[in-house]
Amino acid sequence: MNDWTTRYGAWAVVTGASSGLGREFAIQLAQKGVNLILVARRTDLLEQTAKKCEIYNVDSLIITLDLTDRDSIDTLMDKIGDLDIGILVNNAGFGLAGNYMDLNVQKQVKMVQLNCAVPVELTHAILPQMLKKGKGALITVSSLTAFLVNPYFSVYGATKAFDLLFAEALSYELRDMNIDSLILCPGITGTEFLKKSNIRPEFMPVMTPEKVVKKAIQSLGHKLVVIPGIINRLTMFAAGFFPRCLFTPIVAFVLKHISTEDPAHL
Ligand SMILES: NC(=O)c1ccc[n+]([C@@H]2O[C@H](COP(=O)([O-])OP(=O)(O)OC[C@H]3O[C@@H](n4cnc5c(N)ncnc54)[C@H](OP(=O)(O)O)[C@@H]3O)[C@@H](O)[C@H]2O)c1
Repeated sequence: MNDWTTRYGAWAVVTGASSGLGREFAIQLAQKGVNLILVARRTDLLEQTAKKCEIYNVDSLIITLDLTDRDSIDTLMDKIGDLDIGILVNNAGFGLAGNYMDLNVQKQVKMVQLNCAVPVELTHAILPQMLKKGKGALITVSSLTAFLVNPYFSVYGATKAFDLLFAEALSYELRDMNIDSLILCPGITGTEFLKKSNIRPEFMPVMTPEKVVKKAIQSLGHKLVVIPGIINRLTMFAAGFFPRCLFTPIVAFVLKHISTEDPAHL
């Protein structure tokens, strides 16, 4: 047992662990000696994540699953069995940038399901064992967009605002339960997310997933909401300071210009 496994439990569930921030969460939690339950759809990439974590002498359980499938959370919980889950990282998600009416509506609904319904259902399934043990940690990956009104990224931004408000409210309900909550709100980060979302951040600062996750890991137990990067924090403050009628056109201008591809391929 080390500090982290004593404080939270032996295993962490990381959704979306096949790439980007999820893979980085897996690696940095492995560095803390936490065993991993790695969840996503692409088995080969989950295996690569597990291989990277091996050097830290932790065990990994790979669960290949489309989290938007019916009964996926029941399947996941069956596979987890009675492992001692100390940390849940609700990370899997995707975005779609472009004119709302040009984007495929079924994909937008799927995005709402993955980004919002899955964290609600999975947290509900895993929290009881944390409450019973009287310890644990919930990490929710939201976004800087949660603080903004996001034309041309409207549904995605709304899903991330949902994640922020849900996780923040839940952390209040859990305040006397010895469960640490952390909500990570990254700005633009260099992962597959950008290409898949139809975003080309040519003139924007892009953070690395390593730095973003390091900030989250360092902040767990100390802070509730974490926005990595000074420019991202300034953006959040400006969004709170200026009236929306002034700030939203600026956000719209930026989002329109970084999502210029034809979204028909999405
Ligand atoms: N990158 C950014 O600029 C940025 C900024 C703010 C917030 N975020 C948030 O960060 C989180 C992680 O994104 P990322 O940047 O790391 O992007 P990413 O590299 O595309 O990772 C997304 C992960 O989610 C998994 N996933 C997607 N659909 C899934 C499904 N139906 N079932 C199970 N797993 C699924 C993907 O795995 P498979 O494809 O193998 O299933 C992948 O592992 C997301 O919630 C995103 O909203 C990203």
